[in-house]
Formats: sequence, structure tokens, C-alpha cells
Amino acid sequence: MVTKVLFVCLGNICRSPTAHGVLAQKVAQRGLSKRIQVDSAGTSDWHIGSLPDKRTRQVALQRGYDLSDQRGRQVIREDFAVFDYILAMDKQNLNHLQRLAPAGFSGHLGLFLDFLPQQPLREIPDPYHGGPEGFIQVLDLVEAGCDALIEKLLATA
Ligand code: 4NP
Repeated sequence: MVTKVLFVCLGNICRSPTAHGVLAQKVAQRGLSKRIQVDSAGTSDWHIGSLPDKRTRQVALQRGYDLSDQRGRQVIREDFAVFDYILAMDKQNLNHLQRLAPAGFSGHLGLFLDFLPQQPLREIPDPYHGGPEGFIQVLDLVEAGCDALIEKLLATA
């Protein structure tokens, strides 16, 4: 059984590519690549075809995550027929996804940080217009969230 996970943010160049790269690497390191597949998308069409943001790529690479194979894409209705878990980085993007979701979607649509209930933040802050510390905060939250998500998926499968 394959579980497919889609991370969604606004631009698909900062937060969701980070989660995509981190989860894919953690899954590969644990030999789970055939059981857990991962992708990311943006709710906007602003960065279709773009590499992840340079700051995002640099911070990720410092911890060993290479995001250079990723390109931005926009989430589409058909994604709900493909993915089992669609995880939004913030409430604005979750609202967008809830409006886009077909009525019969039987998968899990929610906030990524719901897998980290002990974390006081419920949303991963948008780092795009801020300083370098925001990108490190994204990576810290994403790494912890991906560890929790993997445990949840293994317990559910
Ligand atoms: P992301 O960050 O949603 O984490 O990819 C953003 C990237 C680009 C913009 C906003 C947020 N933008 O305004 O272009």
C-alpha cells in the first residue's frame, strides 16, 4: 500500500518545497520510498516552473537537503484524486484547499502542524518577506513535523 502526501503553501517555492524535500529524504533514509510518496504545490500560480527560492535552497542544503530538482506547480482539483494526505502550511492555504476539494474527498485535508500538537504554532510562518531566521524556523518546524508525520503514517498503515 502506497500513501501519497502533498504539501501545499502559497508560492510552492519556500515552505512546501522544504517539506517535500525533507520528507522525501527521511523516507528514503528509512527505506520507505515505496510506501510513502511525496509532492508539493502552491495555491497561487505565481511561481509555476520556478526553482525553490534561493534562500530556501541554501538553508536546506546546509542540513543536507537538495531541493534543486523541484519546480513550482499549482495545486489542481485532480490532486484530490491522487493524494491521501493534503497538508497545508497555514490556514489561508487550508481554506483555499477546502473550497477546491471535491465533495467526495475521503483523504486527510488539514494543517501540517496538526501532527505536532505540542508545538504552540499551528501554522508555518511565511518566510518570503522576512529575514534569514524565518527560513531556519521553517526548516526546524518542517523537520519535526516530518518525523511526527512518518510515525503517524507507520502507525496507520
Ligand atoms: P511559500 O512562500 O508560500 O512558502 O512558497 C511564498 C513565496 C512567494 C510569495 C509569497 C510566499 N510571493 O509573494 O511571491
